[in-house]
Amino acid sequence: MSEHGRKFELLADLGALIASEVELDALLAMFASRVATAMGADRATLWLVDGATGELRSGVATALDDELRLPAGRGLAGHVAATGAVVNLADAPGDPRWAPELDRKTGYQTRSVLAVPVVRAGAPIAVIQVLNKRGGAFTAADEEFAAVLAEQIARALEYTSLRSGPGGVAVRGRFNHVIGRSAAMRAIYDLVVRAAATDATVLVRGETGTGKGLIARAIHVNSARVDGPLVAVDCTTLPAGLVESELFGHERGAYTGADSRVIGKVEAAAGGTLFLDEIGELPLELQGKLLRFVQERRFERVGGRDSLEADVRLVAATNRDLAELVRAGQFRSDLYYRLRVVELELPPLRARADDIGDLADHFATLYARKYRRTDVRISDDARAALIAHPWPGNVRELEHAIERAVVLAPDGIIDEDALALADVDPPDEIESAPVRTTATRAAVGPIADVTLPGDLTLDEVERRWAREAVTRAGGNQSAAARALGISRNKLTRLLRG
Ligand SMILES: Nc1ncnc2c1ncn2[C@@H]1O[C@H](COP(=O)(O)OP(=O)(O)OP(=O)(O)O)[C@@H](O)[C@H]1O
Ligand SMILES: [Mg+2]
Repeated sequence: MSEHGRKFELLADLGALIASEVELDALLAMFASRVATAMGADRATLWLVDGATGELRSGVATALDDELRLPAGRGLAGHVAATGAVVNLADAPGDPRWAPELDRKTGYQTRSVLAVPVVRAGAPIAVIQVLNKRGGAFTAADEEFAAVLAEQIARALEYTSLRSGPGGVAVRGRFNHVIGRSAAMRAIYDLVVRAAATDATVLVRGETGTGKGLIARAIHVNSARVDGPLVAVDCTTLPAGLVESELFGHERGAYTGADSRVIGKVEAAAGGTLFLDEIGELPLELQGKLLRFVQERRFERVGGRDSLEADVRLVAATNRDLAELVRAGQFRSDLYYRLRVVELELPPLRARADDIGDLADHFATLYARKYRRTDVRISDDARAALIAHPWPGNVRELEHAIERAVVLAPDGIIDEDALALADVDPPDEIESAPVRTTATRAAVGPIADVTLPGDLTLDEVERRWAREAVTRAGGNQSAAARALGISRNKLTRLLRG
């Protein structure tokens, strides 16, 4: 492909590139290599201006050894960030503004340099610096291309969790907390970024443990409301009678015991995002009230007469089949259609096995740090076993499996035994095998082959069975209750014993 073709392709790909990368540092590295290739140069760096200090940084990870830094105003990139001017030099080391320490640190030999500012609201927030054009110096056409690229980058950075403060970018760390590079997840990131750019209501669907909470958060942090609150309401944990007051608040004296005015989550979320988790469990009586709020953003506090307004973006999540609930008369169809303006369906983990390795490494690192283990490594056999496992509890189940393995792994190697995938999280005291039972309901995968001692009372069997179901459902009690074919309240009673 011609240089012109490569440049054009890079511009066309930029949006998808930004949407697809999980870690900001990975994004910057990927971006740099694409820019260098497209421009027929040897290397490129996207320097980020730290809004607080004016310092330039080549990455955002706090403990990255190969991250480079330049004090404010230092070097060619510093000059560009400070003045907003373009610098194009055929022989950079001969220039008085050149900072030789970077080449000294990296062992690299810079000759030609093109550096252009990425400007937002009149101030440079980053600098694109390209090094060593093959065959000589950067041309006027290169300068023009870099300027267009800088404009696109300025726009694209608005969608990352890098947020500009006065005078530059405040470096916030990760792009967001979602791991996974499978095509299915990339498509989700793309939708998240596009939905986040609007105020549209989003319905996030997916089996238990697929990361619905994480995606709701990603929508919030990638939206213009990022500096506002993200308020979550879990529609399962609330006793029906209290849901209304929890959502909309109540006035003093609204009911016995209401001795002061309390604002609801809707009001608390004003200016930000309201996350309605497990929306499928919202009692029918309240669905009408929520519908009114969804349509008009108006509500009343319990016991109050004033019609109030709250400016919130709504994200709802459920692992239930809402269409089915609508057919069964348990969910209002008008509310359903209002909620699913944008619908995101998170794939189950078994449908994106190519993410399992990344996720396992991520959790291994996370829990190694938490439990102060060094050098935790996953063996090849264990890796193969992880990929073969069906993961009915999805990412949450994987997370628990890795956490347990990190704790139990001798000498930091997670092998197949440490994973104990055949019987994930058996309830503590269960050993021998007199009673053997197999569950039939498959909502969270079969509860296979739980073994219990023979001398248990029926109550005790029920309690252990319930605990196992919760474990199998990755800790999600609603899913466990469904798998057992009992109500959530009944499950709660069983668990208490
Ligand atoms: N793609 C991912 N990358 C990293 N961590 C993830 C990912 N998906 C899920 N997790 C982790 O797995 C756990 C479960 O995720 P989350 O609570 O968002 O699932 P959920 O879909 O809301 O489940 P439920 O329906 O049971 O509420 C969390 O600890 C979350 O951080
Ligand atoms: Mg959840």
